[in-house]
Amino acid sequence: MSSFACVIHPVSPKQDVARKYPLLAKILPTPLVHFFSRFWPPVYLSRITGVRSEATGKEIEGWLLACPLTAEQMMRSPHQTAYKKIIQTGGLAQELGADIMGLLAFTSVIGDGGVTVAQNLNIPVTTGRSLTIAAAVEGLEQAAQHQNIQPQTATVAIVGATGSIGLACAKLLAPTVAELLLVGRSDSHLAGAEAQIRESGARRVRSSTNIEAIREADMVLSTTNATRPIILPEHLKHGAAVCDVALPPDVSPRVTQERDDVLVIDGGVMDVPGEVDFHFNFGLAPGRAYACMAETMVLALEGRRESYSLGKQIQIERVREIAKLARKHGFRLNDIR
Ligand SMILES: NC(=O)c1ccc[n+]([C@@H]2O[C@H](COP(=O)([O-])OP(=O)(O)OC[C@H]3O[C@@H](n4cnc5c(N)ncnc54)[C@H](OP(=O)(O)O)[C@@H]3O)[C@@H](O)[C@H]2O)c1
Repeated sequence: MSSFACVIHPVSPKQDVARKYPLLAKILPTPLVHFFSRFWPPVYLSRITGVRSEATGKEIEGWLLACPLTAEQMMRSPHQTAYKKIIQTGGLAQELGADIMGLLAFTSVIGDGGVTVAQNLNIPVTTGRSLTIAAAVEGLEQAAQHQNIQPQTATVAIVGATGSIGLACAKLLAPTVAELLLVGRSDSHLAGAEAQIRESGARRVRSSTNIEAIREADMVLSTTNATRPIILPEHLKHGAAVCDVALPPDVSPRVTQERDDVLVIDGGVMDVPGEVDFHFNFGLAPGRAYACMAETMVLALEGRRESYSLGKQIQIERVREIAKLARKHGFRLNDIR
């Protein structure tokens, strides 16, 4: 039987640590959770069973493993420290016999996006970015449809447009929307992104380093590596459609509490085919996985033992291919907040 391993890590320190160590999470203040995460060894969380292709009937099994570093700790530590922890977790995946390993959230964001990790392991590694990008764009389009927004007449903001996922999403959306508004932190990074997106057939592109600029956007796709929410209720246009791909989320929970007119979709979440049981609550409803985990499962179902999405550069052809394979095996987008 083909097998896979998914590496997760605490994105919300208290909440996620409590899923495995409720007592520790209760007694340790958040700064100490961050501190101890540096010294904690990789954690075996559970066996994943029941992933079955709708197309071929093939069933695969996997393991859920945790790299203990919190998102903040990954951003603060030298890359080598984070690589070491992720590679140690990969060693556990190898010992268990996984054919392929997928990286979630900041385990793929930091440094070179999985390249060093893959070089130090004997199994292929994927960041899952290709399927995440496909799911993000589809999620945004679905949210727009719910809100009766026509993309061809809409202004679409990409928050984190200078990043790996944001830039690829902007390129995919460029030919189909009226205007793209790129939001980032650095003018020089934004200028580089703008030039690439113009070449992808965009009609109008502009950029801003001010998050408040998204108040002009009908559709918003957010995909930054910020460790706290950056999109607040007052930033959004009336009736906007929002797709949040970031982990931890970019959209404040206050948006769903205070803005009935706005629709927020968790862009990177998919329904898994078969009767999947993760035997561990990592925060999603039963039967659902993050798109990056789904990419790892799709590759295992296809028997493709390759480091499919590695590094920060995205090949748009791979995004299209993995989306097609995911559909074939029965992975579907879901989850409207
Ligand atoms: N749902 C899933 O399955 C899934 C899978 C993979 C990744 N993700 C998540 O997707 C997100 C992006 O991943 P990535 O690989 O594209 O990361 P990345 O390449 O590091 O890009 C993140 C970008 O965010 C920008 N940024 C940071 N703070 C910002 C702010 N306050 N305002 C505007 N832009 C800001 C950074 O801009 P500058 O550095 O240019 O300033 C950077 O270019 C992460 O949260 C990750 O956890 C989700």
